[in-house]
Amino acid sequence: MIVANWKMNGSKEEVDSWLRFVSANILINKTIPCVFCPPSCYLDYSSSLIKKISSPVKLGAQNINHSNNSALTGGINSHMLKDFLTDYVLIGHSEQREYLNEDNESLQYKIKDALIKNISPIFCIGEPKNIKDQGNTQDYLRSQLEILNTMDSDQITIAYEPIWAIGTGENADKIYIEEVHSFIKEFCCQELNFKEKVSVVYGGSVKLSNCEEILSSSKVDGLLIGGASLDPETFAKIYNLS
Ligand code: 13P
Repeated sequence: MIVANWKMNGSKEEVDSWLRFVSANILINKTIPCVFCPPSCYLDYSSSLIKKISSPVKLGAQNINHSNNSALTGGINSHMLKDFLTDYVLIGHSEQREYLNEDNESLQYKIKDALIKNISPIFCIGEPKNIKDQGNTQDYLRSQLEILNTMDSDQITIAYEPIWAIGTGENADKIYIEEVHSFIKEFCCQELNFKEKVSVVYGGSVKLSNCEEILSSSKVDGLLIGGASLDPETFAKIYNLS
């Protein structure tokens, strides 16, 4: 899976030209979904355009809200996402954990909500720099992964995004990524009893110049791309190298 996470970037015009360019220029491989996650205000437009031009691109949301049935001004629920024909949703991105105080309990609700509506969660995990420097990455990731216990696993993708690599230009190296992805896969299989082998994608300063090296690892099942996904030419090239 190759995912474009636009974060809080873009305009309707840019969404339009990106979707048209990428749809026309990717060599679509049915086993590798190409997922576009625009800001939520462009989901409706993106969904209509994807349909209109018969694009192979799949739609993803950057978030989903859960309020335990109370009112939530500004919230978007799984039912609404389904209205836009959204197939995927990012849950637990480090920026949302930090700025919106998302904790394990609320993330667990979100994942369950998405699964009920048949929207595939892309569950983001990753450690900050000090945790990596102390050698505590696995313990940290274990505490993030534990909420997936008892979940129906075959629809969940894990995105490993070390926080120190996001937007810094400093990606994790292949050996480190392999080590962490192996740990995640083993943990999901042995401790969480996932029935299927879980897909683990990498995110954090992925660029055209490093994507081939990262993807060459058998432990990497795809990429979650921020900054480099904004340019349709770069993104299409990365997809075509996958
Ligand atoms: P960058 O690719 O800009 O480092 O962002 C990674 C990310 O957070 C994708 O979700």
